[in-house]
Amino acid sequence: MAVCTGVSVEHDSHHPHPDKHDQHFFDTFLLVFGILAAMAIGSYWIATAIANHDPGAYDRGGAVQERLIDRRLAPIGDVQIAGNSATQMATATPVAASAGNPVARTGKQIWEGTCSACHASGALGAPKIGNRTEWAPHLAKGLAVLEDHALHGYKMMPAHGGNPALSDAEVIQALEYMISQSGGARLLHK
Ligand code: HEC
Repeated sequence: MAVCTGVSVEHDSHHPHPDKHDQHFFDTFLLVFGILAAMAIGSYWIATAIANHDPGAYDRGGAVQERLIDRRLAPIGDVQIAGNSATQMATATPVAASAGNPVARTGKQIWEGTCSACHASGALGAPKIGNRTEWAPHLAKGLAVLEDHALHGYKMMPAHGGNPALSDAEVIQALEYMISQSGGARLLHK
């Protein structure tokens, strides 16, 4: 076991007694190996002693641990495969409908939810729904302009009626409902 393979031609000058050096290395190696082996055997012995002392504790703890790990690893939701009766929940449809996936609302419902705040009473000078006289000058601008103002705002009229939760399509639906009630139906059926 020559650990000193010096590049020098006269490497023996660094280690005048190569055999002695190898022997020393081997002794150290055996000592370290022995200590490691003793530690391994020792820890095995300690573990065995603890387990024998109260074997039930390990089984109980293990079962609880397993349940906790199962719970942590459990997926947040289950995959429901349509048409697969084994995985389909009876309540799948109502749950989906109530959880952020509402059934599409009508233009009237959207109008009542947002636009009515001003366009029912005429607040801020908004043209009142059903009032043809008030709506006439607005309707004269044409549908494209009204849509643009409903979406992006105009004077005291806030963009999306001030309700950012409404999609563009919902704002247009509400707009169409409002003008259809206010003498503007002809704009919608050209
Ligand atoms: C905070 C009050 C308010 C709400 C809510 C509101 N509006 Fe208005 N709206 C106004 C006012 C005020 C005007 C009049 C603007 C003007 O012509 O000076 C107006 C005017 C309009 C006009 C005519 C714009 C034009 O160019 O003549 C349309 C179209 C309209 N609103 C659509 C809607 C729709 C659709 C909603 C619901 C999504 C809505 N508004 C919600 C205040 C409101």
